[in-house]
Amino acid sequence: MEYECISPGHTCYVLMPMPVTLVVTLRPDGGYNIMTASWIMPVSRNPPLVAVAVAPRRFTYECLRRHPEFTICVLPPEMQDIAWYCGTTSGKVENKVAKLEAEGKIRLVRLSRVETPGIDGALALIGCKLWRDYEGGDHRIIVGEVVECLARRGSFRDGWTKGTKILYYYGGSRFLCIEIP
Ligand SMILES: Cc1cc2nc3c(=O)[nH]c(=O)nc-3n(C[C@H](O)[C@H](O)[C@H](O)COP(=O)(O)O)c2cc1C
Repeated sequence: MEYECISPGHTCYVLMPMPVTLVVTLRPDGGYNIMTASWIMPVSRNPPLVAVAVAPRRFTYECLRRHPEFTICVLPPEMQDIAWYCGTTSGKVENKVAKLEAEGKIRLVRLSRVETPGIDGALALIGCKLWRDYEGGDHRIIVGEVVECLARRGSFRDGWTKGTKILYYYGGSRFLCIEIP
């Protein structure tokens, strides 16, 4: 096998594709914010912890500092346009949730153990309380304790069921869909 050198800074792309999620937080001025995040992973079963890399310049980070709760929504391919919009526009310049709701493109779903809602149509809604916030280079490593986890009825039994379609991202504007065999 022959190998070629890849810039260490491109390792993030070497590890892709990664699932596309929306991270919902509370805006300090009221209402909610949504940010698209693919740099996400489980880190512990007990306690149940997930980590999301959030760049500190994101409005989401400011929201998390004010209100330490968030909801992670795991997306199906039909929600790619919402993911692209929420991943290319900051809540600092636009109230994304108000806009998407006004256009009838999203509907919020209440969770019972966190104040942050989920987005209807997502495959899973994961309610988290901020557990730790670590320094991680140009991102913060936001670790959330999962206090509630909902999956679309019928789509999950110890794992995603046959035929479930999950949206993945591999850099730039490249998305793909993985269908569970
Ligand atoms: C598919 C996709 C995945 C992304 N993943 C992340 C991520 O994991 N962490 C991050 O900090 N930004 C990520 N971004 C960029 C943010 O979503 C983007 O900067 C967004 O506008 C931030 O919103 P906010 O300022 O309202 O928090 C991603 C963007 C896209 C399109």
